[in-house]
Amino acid sequence: MRFSTAALVLATATSSASADSWSSPCTATANSGLPFCDSSLSMDDRVADLLSRLSKEDKITKGDSLLSNDGKAIDHLSMPQYQWWSEALHGVANSPGVDFDGEVTAATSFPQPLHSSQSFNRTLFAALGTAISTEARAMNSVGQSGLTYWTPNLNIFRDPRWGRGQETPGEDPFLTSEYVEAYVPALEHEEGTDFLKISACCKHYAAYSLEAYDDVDRHSFSANVTDVDFADTYLPAFQACAAEDRAAASSMMCSYNAINGVPSCANGDILKKKAREEWGFDGYITSDCGAVDDVYSPHDYSPTPSETIRDVLEATMDSDCGGFITAHMEDAVNDGTVSMDLVDSALTNLLKVQFRLGMFEAEQPFADITVDSIDTDEHRQLALEASRQGMTLLKNDGVLPLQKGVSVGLLGPHAQSTEDLQGNYYGVAPFIVSPEAGLKEYGDVTTEQGCEINSDDKSGFDAAVKVIAGVDVVVLAIGINQSIEAEGLDRYSISLPGVQKDMIEAVLAEADAQKKQVVMVYVGGGASCLGLYSGDDRVSAIVAAGYSGQSGGTALAEALYGDYSPAGRLTHTYHRGDYVDETDFLDMNMRADDRSKGRTYRFYRGDAVVYEFGSGFGYASFGYEAQNLDANGLSVDIEIKNEGNVDSDHTILAFVKSQDETVVLNPVKSLKAFQRFAGIKAGGSQVATFQFQKEDFGAFGENGEFVQGKGAWTVQFDKGDGDVVDVVFDLD
Ligand SMILES: *[C@@H]1O[C@H](CO)[C@@H](O)[C@H](O)[C@H]1NC(C)=O
Ligand SMILES: *[C@@H]1O[C@H](CO)[C@@H](O)[C@H](O)[C@H]1NC(C)=O
Ligand SMILES: *[C@@H]1O[C@H](CO)[C@@H](O)[C@H](O)[C@H]1NC(C)=O
Repeated sequence: MRFSTAALVLATATSSASADSWSSPCTATANSGLPFCDSSLSMDDRVADLLSRLSKEDKITKGDSLLSNDGKAIDHLSMPQYQWWSEALHGVANSPGVDFDGEVTAATSFPQPLHSSQSFNRTLFAALGTAISTEARAMNSVGQSGLTYWTPNLNIFRDPRWGRGQETPGEDPFLTSEYVEAYVPALEHEEGTDFLKISACCKHYAAYSLEAYDDVDRHSFSANVTDVDFADTYLPAFQACAAEDRAAASSMMCSYNAINGVPSCANGDILKKKAREEWGFDGYITSDCGAVDDVYSPHDYSPTPSETIRDVLEATMDSDCGGFITAHMEDAVNDGTVSMDLVDSALTNLLKVQFRLGMFEAEQPFADITVDSIDTDEHRQLALEASRQGMTLLKNDGVLPLQKGVSVGLLGPHAQSTEDLQGNYYGVAPFIVSPEAGLKEYGDVTTEQGCEINSDDKSGFDAAVKVIAGVDVVVLAIGINQSIEAEGLDRYSISLPGVQKDMIEAVLAEADAQKKQVVMVYVGGGASCLGLYSGDDRVSAIVAAGYSGQSGGTALAEALYGDYSPAGRLTHTYHRGDYVDETDFLDMNMRADDRSKGRTYRFYRGDAVVYEFGSGFGYASFGYEAQNLDANGLSVDIEIKNEGNVDSDHTILAFVKSQDETVVLNPVKSLKAFQRFAGIKAGGSQVATFQFQKEDFGAFGENGEFVQGKGAWTVQFDKGDGDVVDVVFDLD
């Protein structure tokens, strides 16, 4: 296994850089009256004017570069240095552009996207974007953060081993696209102004879903991707994010990996042809941090540093997160490899986004967003709400909801987790409610962790087992954390790590002997194998609690005690442990081949599934009835009736599948629509109206071309508890 020296060096280099406050060059008297400060001119004209005032030295001097994330101060134009690299995956997060040492000491820490995605709630995705960009603007107003945020992560969670699947909305391209079309505009725009509130970034473009495995890592890996997988798995969410007629984000990030031998950052086919020319993407492209170094080595793509810079700029990458361009640009221009036109074109893209953010206005836009907008009651409530809406119930023999007043034995390594509930890419939270603290609001809790997340120490087992005799019910908080799945860290096994399985067995045996029921709570991003427990009667309930953010413990306890009926549905498949033996992680093919049985619910053709994408139910039960079927007009209403005794939210998923199973390029089924309903009353009902398009019934062919379906196609309306209602449309 190889470590990335580039990324390590960079991390040290940037960690000391703090966010300098930007003050608009157009507040300087010397610049007043200059065209680039004249807000009556078009932004293109202002950018061109500013560019014309930059000397060759300003643009390419060795050791300092406008084309790097660290930016550069241009003193003769009163332009401060600007740090492009700020993070806000699920709340403003620690990064070179962000610091929490100042007036602002904390920011709301929402759940990881993989958890929030389980809500299937577009309104929630947008509300999260609005809250996060408000806090981001507010931190910027006091110089504690930048305005360019490298969020969201849109790569498809194609395999549970990937350490960064936790950052994504899951394994389905349609859901990921819907997520991004709600989330990104809410990050970037506010009604009533054309200025960008903050700049969001579609990352990591493209086909990035491997950290380090066997003898490759993300810096050296070349993802072999077929045209058909590009068309229906790896590209759709990026198109939704970047295209001018979709979310039209102002930035993209090219990934570390190569694609079919060409490193993403030097890949003109995906950056220039696909994103800019075909989709009309109009923004700046940054490299992932150290990815330009990677183009040179280990990808060994461009023979010299000068040619490396030419190749990435010709591919239309604009900014190097890292030090490569800073170190080599001057030579690359002086030796004639890189033209000043290429430099100017990148600078234009960068400056334009800064102008759109209002960084060259004499008066700062969004001045009404002050630090009072951070960690507000509304944002606390939203964090709690997102955590609730993502809670996903996978098994329940009736033990849940718990009776108020029962005493709980809380066992397992996540019993007292706080920071672990933030996942990765997090900031300083104002508070974090652990599972223990959440449950204590409801009654007596006796806690024993029993073991660590990942260790061979069984010395805590006895104490954990002893708790069982004295309590009414056992809650087992097990799972993984960033020591198991993380940036830079993929898993070789998806079994529960360390001695957790032994601890669980000891607890289940004792609970069985004592006739105590056990509720299992899985904390983690990527799925672990729960196959030993799904069919085990000694486990009464299983909750997928994700990385649920600052109010995770509260939302969990409320769900267990039935203050609300959980309605989350899995956005990635929980496989059995032996999945990793039958599927080669390095194989990027989504469809089954001689190295794998296929990936994700759309293409997997094996039987190592414990809980599929879309699984999840609550304390009510729902009946579906198809009405008003218009087979030619491709529309149908589904009446959703709450046949249970409690009010409950409910999400209906609509999967399309062809009855022609011999069409090998077809997915097994594909999500084409979903709707979430809030608080359907016990005994009450709601009607979900579905209008499909002809293109919903089709598949992609070998060359990535769309093939219109014919004949009978089924839409499967899925309740999440294993029950479905099928409706057939005839396309002829
Ligand atoms: C993960 O769990 C281990 C073992 O319980 C713990 O030592 C570590 O601090 C946790 N968090 C991270 C980020 O590793
Ligand atoms: C990608 O394709 C190349 C060329 O066919 C091959 O040498 C390489 O082993 C493949 N890589 C993976 C990870 O399958
Ligand atoms: C979606 O989330 C928003 C924001 O939390 C909430 O107000 C709304 O009720 C949710 N909608 C559904 C259908 O659950």
